[in-house]
Amino acid sequence: MNRRDFVRDSLLTAGSAFLAHCNLAATASPSRGQVPGSIAPSEINTARFPEGFLWGMASAAYQVEGAWAEDGKGESNWDRFSHTVGKVKGGATGDVSCDQYHRFNEDIAILKRLNQKSYRFSTSWARIQPTGTGSVNQRGIDHYSRLADALLEAGIRPFCTIYHWDLPQALEDRGGWPNRDVAGYYADFAGILAKHLGDRITTWAPFNMPWTFTYYGYGIGVFPPGRASFDQFLKAAHTVNLAQAEAFRAIKAASSRATVGSAYGMAPAYPKTNSEADRAAAARYHAMNNLYFLNTAIYGEYPKAFVGEPPYEAMGYKSGDEKIMRVPLDWLGFHYYTRRIVSDARGSSQSVTSGHFGTETEAEGGSRDPFTQIHVEVPAEGPLTEAGLEIWPRGMYDLVMQISREYNHPIIEISENGCCYLDTPDDSGRVPDNRRTAFHREHLAELARAIADGANVRAYHAWSLVDNFEWSDGYSQRYGLTYVDFRNQRRTVKDSGLWYGRVAAANHLNV
Ligand code: FCB
Repeated sequence: MNRRDFVRDSLLTAGSAFLAHCNLAATASPSRGQVPGSIAPSEINTARFPEGFLWGMASAAYQVEGAWAEDGKGESNWDRFSHTVGKVKGGATGDVSCDQYHRFNEDIAILKRLNQKSYRFSTSWARIQPTGTGSVNQRGIDHYSRLADALLEAGIRPFCTIYHWDLPQALEDRGGWPNRDVAGYYADFAGILAKHLGDRITTWAPFNMPWTFTYYGYGIGVFPPGRASFDQFLKAAHTVNLAQAEAFRAIKAASSRATVGSAYGMAPAYPKTNSEADRAAAARYHAMNNLYFLNTAIYGEYPKAFVGEPPYEAMGYKSGDEKIMRVPLDWLGFHYYTRRIVSDARGSSQSVTSGHFGTETEAEGGSRDPFTQIHVEVPAEGPLTEAGLEIWPRGMYDLVMQISREYNHPIIEISENGCCYLDTPDDSGRVPDNRRTAFHREHLAELARAIADGANVRAYHAWSLVDNFEWSDGYSQRYGLTYVDFRNQRRTVKDSGLWYGRVAAANHLNV
């Protein structure tokens, strides 16, 4: 089951969700006639951002680079997966994608034209170390070095996500993330990057959405390597927790100017009813899906994601790991796309026939995961994007305030926020994607409200600079603020991109 199927199944039952006012209190209710979850124009017009706010855009190596076998690059797990028949919609691959490997100057020119101050990209491990360990492929380093230089020259901060889901296949063949040794190999890789690029790149996030690639890859098998076992997920996630901290230390050792944060995927969890059981279930969801790699870093311990004690044995946890995992992240980056409605799955026969039992999704026809006992729905109270995700701008405010409160007002970066719409160029060559503009405008207004209420937010990254390879959905989804014609690689900045460029220049939304 891919992410879209999960969403579709969830929508069947979600309409009736009752939002209880507890941990995540529903904020100002929409006025009569207003679209549920939407933001009034007055809030948009008065939204303010701090001076020096970092307006940015994001991408990821496998999704945009192409050049999959050039200049000494090794095979990655996503190369292998997309080359396997039946794994990606339409048989799509990232072999060429947006060809950013060769066209990064053109893409940086777009960023500059749109007054961007931060570009979040990721590195391909197999370009730097083709088999994941051992000697360094200088041509890979040279590529990211040129990219960093070009960004700096354009006045744009290079924000490097070290790992956005593409593992050297040679390491997958050695067991992948459930193999604890991969934590050490990963830290070596991170140290190599910091050593060669740390004089110019100072903003590092070890992992993009660690929960997603460990769960989707090893827990339910819809991402490479396609394994479906809850134990494998637990082991993979534990290795990643160790790797995150080992990388933090390796980066700091190699570069005194480095700051290390994160790029977690998060979704605010609203309990389905006001019952204690549902509220506790929503808290378990929050712990499992939002905090599983954050709490371990800050406190050296797993958050309360499980009914009962964490299954340490299944995780492969060793005594002393609490010390290894703990590192003082310099800032927190997380994405917001949509919210979840969560209820307690224990003891009930669950008459609902859709949505998902367990951590988030389950293998086809799978049983409940015995550890979290939650039932998760993606609601449809607000309008939906063309990827089927509910648009709920108020979730941005709720999530930012919750993390701010729970982690003592850290520096926050929104590492991704965006939406899929399939608008194409019209006869005049423009891409009038007004729904995307509205999406970003309302989410930004809610972010500004969180800032006004005390959250220390310094950056926002729209996903994405260009339309690109959307994982198992191939090219069937478009998230870009720039349209890409994949037949000839022609880029057209969409109306939303032009609008976002004006916002970045003005530092407010009233443009
Ligand atoms: C996020 C991923 C990103 C992209 C967007 C749409 O979950 O980090 O790579 O797929 O969703």
